[in-house]
Amino acid sequence: MKSGQALFIVFASLLFTWAGQIALGYFQVGRLEPILNEETNYTEPPVPSGLAQTGARVFASQGCLECHSLSVRGPSGSADLTRGWGPRRTVPRDYLFREPALIGSSRIGSDLSNIGLRIPDSKDLMLHLWNPRLRNSNSTCPPHPWLFERKVAGPKIENDALPLPTKDWKQILPKYQAKSLVAYLQSLHSDYALPEAPIK
Ligand code: HEC
Repeated sequence: MKSGQALFIVFASLLFTWAGQIALGYFQVGRLEPILNEETNYTEPPVPSGLAQTGARVFASQGCLECHSLSVRGPSGSADLTRGWGPRRTVPRDYLFREPALIGSSRIGSDLSNIGLRIPDSKDLMLHLWNPRLRNSNSTCPPHPWLFERKVAGPKIENDALPLPTKDWKQILPKYQAKSLVAYLQSLHSDYALPEAPIK
């Protein structure tokens, strides 16, 4: 084979790879925009608060993605919807304001794309992070006590203290990481319809 031909083959295969991996991906999802909901005048997907965006980083750094996915699959070939993991399948537009887009693939625990709908109360989520067995005595979700601190209770119990009996006069308070992680978990809900993913 002449060197000109070899060079052509190398460049052609590089071009095909670029077209398949980058150009095709860009045309499929690169130009997605949020949708304006004319009833509420809000865009969908909603923009998560700054606290929730910090919480996404805590979620990533704590390794939650090792056991939980953040993507509900459609009805064909998957039982995600019948398991009650969400009102509809997840689509690329759902990750528009999610930076980084955490998707995950492990399903040792349940999919958390709609945990904000399943456990809406921040106190319940805090209790789960402190000790998952308080909510579900058989839970194998690991506790995350390092996201909390024990502080001597003053004359009054603080508002965000966990509703648990104080020990040695100490109350259990969530650190900033726990508060942001809970804000992130509460921001996870896809109860709005998108053109490519209606809610049936
Ligand atoms: C070693 C695997 C593992 C890791 C790591 C893990 N979990 Fe879990 N998690 C589970 C399992 C298994 C369950 C199901 C048992 C239960 O409901 O408590 C679960 C349940 C949950 C639930 C309740 C889900 C529901 O549908 O009711 C929440 C919320 C949750 N985990 C949050 C987290 C967060 C946040 C992190 C990271 C800080 C995390 N988990 C890390 C395994 C894990």
